[in-house]
Amino acid sequence: MSSYEEAYAYLERRVDALKTNKTGDEKETEAEVFDKKTLMTIYEFMKDGYIDSVHYPISTGKEGNVFYATDEENEPMALKIFRTSTSTFKRVAKYVEGDPRFKGVTGNRWKLIYAWVNKEFKNLDRYMQAGIPVPEPITFAQNCLLMEYIGDETGPAPQLKDVVLEDPDETYEDVLSFIIDGWQEAHLVHGDLSEYNILMTEDGPIMIDVGQAMTKDHYNAKELLERDIHNINSFFRKRDADVVTDAEVLEETLSDNGDEEE
Ligand SMILES: Nc1ncnc2c1ncn2[C@@H]1O[C@H](COP(=O)(O)OP(=O)(O)O)[C@@H](O)[C@H]1O
Ligand SMILES: [Mg+2]
Repeated sequence: MSSYEEAYAYLERRVDALKTNKTGDEKETEAEVFDKKTLMTIYEFMKDGYIDSVHYPISTGKEGNVFYATDEENEPMALKIFRTSTSTFKRVAKYVEGDPRFKGVTGNRWKLIYAWVNKEFKNLDRYMQAGIPVPEPITFAQNCLLMEYIGDETGPAPQLKDVVLEDPDETYEDVLSFIIDGWQEAHLVHGDLSEYNILMTEDGPIMIDVGQAMTKDHYNAKELLERDIHNINSFFRKRDADVVTDAEVLEETLSDNGDEEE
């Protein structure tokens, strides 16, 4: 057997999603997600002991899917697998090429998508170091990112948009701190912050999907910041939170604690 066949046979035993989605509409998604390179990457994660099994998809999106995976102790993790299609490549190109941390990475589709995954991993780490609640990043390779699973036995944590808020003001304050502390402490702007990219847990909101987050010295960072503020304020206004103006949030975010390096 070739190493690919060997990996595939091994994976069929370990990856439920390969078996469970051989009929119906899901088939195409699955076939596309688990292309040869992706299979080999999952195989490597298994050989390295990061994961033991890949179960069902938590989410299937345009640019990738998120799977529920477990290690040998049955501890849950979230495995995010990016498609390597042209549309994904087109969208991520500008975010990678514009980021000073990825200078020189241009052109090649695979290279860019790998850089993108690397970027999401680094951004998660940077937010975490700054004390902002995000899933803890575990490892990444190629187009796959492994991170802490946000949820419990009953399922993944719901997106903010699907939750009835007990205390909208409190959640609003928490989410504002993602923006303000994200900028001041992590020196990042999320760039796609909305009720879709925040998960709600018993302990409060958690920010996800940080691949496009940019360092605050990026030429476009202030525009992204303004857009994040606008989206969050619009959402919380609809939920009757005590929302302050976009300008006030912007001012507070930019009223820096004096440190301007980086
Ligand atoms: N670490 C995680 N734990 C649990 N669920 C997650 C996790 N990361 C993502 N998800 C689920 O997968 C969905 C898509 O993930 P996201 O990172 O927003 O990717 P995209 O929006 O690019 O498809 C999320 O809305 C959430 O429901
Ligand atoms: Mg998302």
